[in-house]
Amino acid sequence: MSTFATFNPPPRLLMGPGPINADPRVLRAMSAQLIGQFDPAMTQAMNDTMALYRAVFATVNEATFLIDGTARAGIEAALVSLIEPGDTVLIPVFGRFGHLLREIAERCDATVEICEVPWGQVVDPAMVEEAIRRTRPKLVATVQGDTSTTMCQPLADLGRLCREQDVLLYADVTASLGGNTFEADAWHVDAVSAGLQKCLAGPSGSAPVTFSPRAVEVITRRKSIEAGLLADGETTAATRIRSNYFDVAMLLDYWGERRLNHHTEATSMLYAARECARIIVEDGLDETIERHRLHGEAMLAGVLGLGLAVFGDVSHKMNNVVGVHIPEGVDGDRARGELLEQFGIEIGTSFGPLHGKIWRIGTMGYNARTDAVLTTLAALEQVLRRNGHPTPQGGGIDAALEVYGSTAS
Ligand SMILES: Cc1ncc(COP(=O)(O)O)c(C=O)c1O
Repeated sequence: MSTFATFNPPPRLLMGPGPINADPRVLRAMSAQLIGQFDPAMTQAMNDTMALYRAVFATVNEATFLIDGTARAGIEAALVSLIEPGDTVLIPVFGRFGHLLREIAERCDATVEICEVPWGQVVDPAMVEEAIRRTRPKLVATVQGDTSTTMCQPLADLGRLCREQDVLLYADVTASLGGNTFEADAWHVDAVSAGLQKCLAGPSGSAPVTFSPRAVEVITRRKSIEAGLLADGETTAATRIRSNYFDVAMLLDYWGERRLNHHTEATSMLYAARECARIIVEDGLDETIERHRLHGEAMLAGVLGLGLAVFGDVSHKMNNVVGVHIPEGVDGDRARGELLEQFGIEIGTSFGPLHGKIWRIGTMGYNARTDAVLTTLAALEQVLRRNGHPTPQGGGIDAALEVYGSTAS
């Protein structure tokens, strides 16, 4: 058999909609040695992680922990644990990830109602209110920041509305958490899931989640215990959550005081998730969001300075990603390829109705930095020019530097 060399990834600056380059502190944390599942040092690291993510989610929810898997695992865990077959679930759809929520809810055998707006807009709370009154759902499930369109759905009004109508609210904050304001408790969001690979500056593979006491009550009504773990005389629920791996009721026993064995915790990802949250808590949550706002604004000004047109309702754009229309006559994939091959910079393509029409450029996590923004704008200017699209010389960098003012000089 032939030998295989060590894999040395090429140097890349990841300026797409995620994943981004991980913070070196997170990479160092991941290289620490493994310890046993019930070692007191391990359970302490789990407890630390729960406390750290309470700060990041702005919640006092006891049920705040990690789902092992990428962000999608967190979504599935929340939905399969909250939804019982036949439940009505209302989903505001404003991009690809709303459609994902819809698909997962359908797989849970929910009756799914949607209120949909064109990509590039957010959903008006009045539309959701009307749909709640009409369909009487058990759960409203929405995305906060949908990377497919760059839009950030305001959630405070939806939370208030859901609480008034006694409806549970779930939010996927994978792409927005840490880069845009999110307050689980103040906004009455009952179930939330995230991922590490966007504004949290880590690799994909762990999904922080939090559940309000209301959500926990709904979930634990269907709590079951694996036959091999039942104590003598103990019985288990008749109607089980339909996934074992994503059974949040079981996971609560694993992360809670009972430490009832479930899966083998993904230890290196726990180290990563703990470090991601530790960085944010050390830097300050508000300061981290402000950093994303500043670099997002500089990138927005920069692409406008290059004469590019921005996609969607900019007043509802996430801080951490901007969509730009691919100029007439420029082959979008070829230009992206040149950015990657010649400059080592990755920007994002688009999905569905936007495929071939817009690029998505991120400024998030470890890459929400002045040098990353300026380098990307300089390279983009060159690539656009070489692809037959003249841009104002230095226009991107000048506009970004204007946003940074004296801080970037
Ligand atoms: C809003 C949103 N939700 C879910 C996901 C899916 O995340 P993952 O690929 O980590 O499962 C993404 C990834 O881009 C996302 O942006």
